[in-house]
Amino acid sequence: MKTIVLGISGGIAAYKSAQLTSELIKKGYDVEVIMTQNATQFISPLTFETLTKHPVLTHTFQSIHPESVEHIRIAKRADVFVIVPATANCIAKIAHGLADDMLSTTFLAAQCPKIICPAMNTAMYQNPITQHNLQLCASYGIQIIKPQQGLLACGDNGEGKLADIDHILQHIEAACTPSLLDGLSIMISAGPTQEAFDPVRFLSNPSSGKMGYALAKVAQQLGAKVTLVSGPVQLPPPINVLLKQVKSAQEMFDTIKQHYKDQDIIIKAAAVSDYRPTTIHDEKIKKTEDKLSLTLVKNPDILAYLGEHKLPHQILCGFAMESEDLLTNAKEKMIRKNCDMLVANHLKMEGAGFQGDTNIASILQGEKIESFEKMTKEELAHIILHKLYTLYKGKEEKSIC
Ligand SMILES: Cc1cc2nc3c(=O)[nH]c(=O)nc-3n(C[C@H](O)[C@H](O)[C@H](O)COP(=O)(O)O)c2cc1C
Repeated sequence: MKTIVLGISGGIAAYKSAQLTSELIKKGYDVEVIMTQNATQFISPLTFETLTKHPVLTHTFQSIHPESVEHIRIAKRADVFVIVPATANCIAKIAHGLADDMLSTTFLAAQCPKIICPAMNTAMYQNPITQHNLQLCASYGIQIIKPQQGLLACGDNGEGKLADIDHILQHIEAACTPSLLDGLSIMISAGPTQEAFDPVRFLSNPSSGKMGYALAKVAQQLGAKVTLVSGPVQLPPPINVLLKQVKSAQEMFDTIKQHYKDQDIIIKAAAVSDYRPTTIHDEKIKKTEDKLSLTLVKNPDILAYLGEHKLPHQILCGFAMESEDLLTNAKEKMIRKNCDMLVANHLKMEGAGFQGDTNIASILQGEKIESFEKMTKEELAHIILHKLYTLYKGKEEKSIC
């Protein structure tokens, strides 16, 4: 179990660290909290003691484990040290190596990856002294998660609002994850495509893109260089990925053709429309006729193209979603499209499919079929990426022999 040391300094956003703590605990992390004295004015240590099941440290000379020096013990336990929120005062202390309270002292003693999340009034944030302090922190290898623009508690509207907790979580997870996919380039397609037939209408499907985005996020956390080719979705892009936004199947095809040669692993998780209207009307079609017929033409088969043009070192993974004979159809698709692996989604089962956060899948490789219970799309992403990595390594070793 990884240990996250969460530092909380005295800003109005301190209450948001309770949500962060709760999310970290749910994800299986052990969380140790250190608060500045001023932070305890904003939220009680009791909240964090209850969530983490650990005493909260607020004083330099607090000794919970008399057999060891408390700040050194905590600093050594930390896999990642994150300060949420980081006040202007706290940032200034860190930038200059001050160690005059439990938080700054432990932070100075920690040797793990460190993250700070500034949150403050816009004028305080934009003050050249704060900006200089942040640059100093960055120069010491401390990761800074920039605040967002927005309405601040003081009533001002501007830069300084704490970054989204989800965004902070992603950075913490990335800092914790060993780099299994270091040095590998992975391209993932995600989401639906939209096939227009006039300027305001299109044919599409209900794909949310969640599976592809989960794969991109986890692949990035595992160290891969990720290119995410995404149809129109309502999801924030994962951090540190190259995002290529497309609308139609043809655009997705063109983008993938442009990038596929640079990839080691390609995962086609997008729900691409098989057909598109033959004509896109320049003007909106009027509601004059009782019946309207659209003639459709086949879209390019992107997976088949990638299978045909697969480079010797590449691993190709497709997805299948069928309403009948899933495994038979999936296996036939895997062979026909020259995929190394195929993930079959159980469309008709509760907890599987397009929109939700969970999936129920079977993974096919050659003659092998493994079926999995319902799990989150992120958990499934881990399993898929570990399997693809093993396939990639296997191919690499064979080519060396
Ligand atoms: C109501 C209130 C809200 C505050 N919010 C912030 C804030 O969001 N960010 C910040 O940098 N300072 C904020 N401050 C100022 C800090 O609390 C102050 O600089 C304090 O010395 C920080 O202490 P610490 O860094 O040891 O926790 C606020 C002060 C008050 C009274």
